Amino acid sequence: MIIAVDGPAASGKGTIARALARHYGLPHLDTGLLYRAVAATVLREELDPSSEADAVSSCSFEDYLLDDPWLRTDDVGKAASIVSAHPLVRLALLQRQKKFAHQPGGAVLDGRDIGTVIAPDAEVKLFVKATPMIRAQRRHLELRKAGLHTSLDKVLADIRARDDRDSRRSEAPMVQAPDAALLDTSFLSIDAATQRAIALVEAKVQRR
Ligand code: DC
Repeated sequence: MIIAVDGPAASGKGTIARALARHYGLPHLDTGLLYRAVAATVLREELDPSSEADAVSSCSFEDYLLDDPWLRTDDVGKAASIVSAHPLVRLALLQRQKKFAHQPGGAVLDGRDIGTVIAPDAEVKLFVKATPMIRAQRRHLELRKAGLHTSLDKVLADIRARDDRDSRRSEAPMVQAPDAALLDTSFLSIDAATQRAIALVEAKVQRR
């Protein structure tokens, strides 16, 4: 069984994907990390994320980089959103994601284009969303807990800019697949959102 979990930043898709993987005993891939690794390599080499050639030359990163906490920062996230708009960067990362999705036994992947491009054949597709303000509040709280003090307005502006870039790009834009179930986590706790996701998967599996 392939479970595709797509949605915008701070929607809860990563937490839900990890919980589903645990629940069903499936391997999980956070595909955003791959774009973050490309972006981190671009930044480390002092290259330009908006240059396709610079970004493509950073696509053959070493896997240990995926464990670097730096990849989770907003600076790298923003650069990831920029490098991910280049068609050749998406092409360079395509086979790795398709292979992970289609491994024997199945997998859970989360990202922006899993249900549309990486695994259009996924048995279960979820599109996880929450209002921009609620996502900004979640992110703001996380940043404060990490000792980073920025204004909520700035976090909200960053989230809106990222949504815009990820959904307006020409190649594999973030969009809900027509056959994806919508899960709005705006007013759900993590536990409630996870239970709802499991219920959606069960409903889908029973209909097959
Ligand atoms: O999910 P995330 O915030 O870690 O993703 C970082 C950026 O990577 C996101 O802004 C857009 C890009 N991305 C993508 O284009 N396609 C994916 N499947 C996953 C992430």
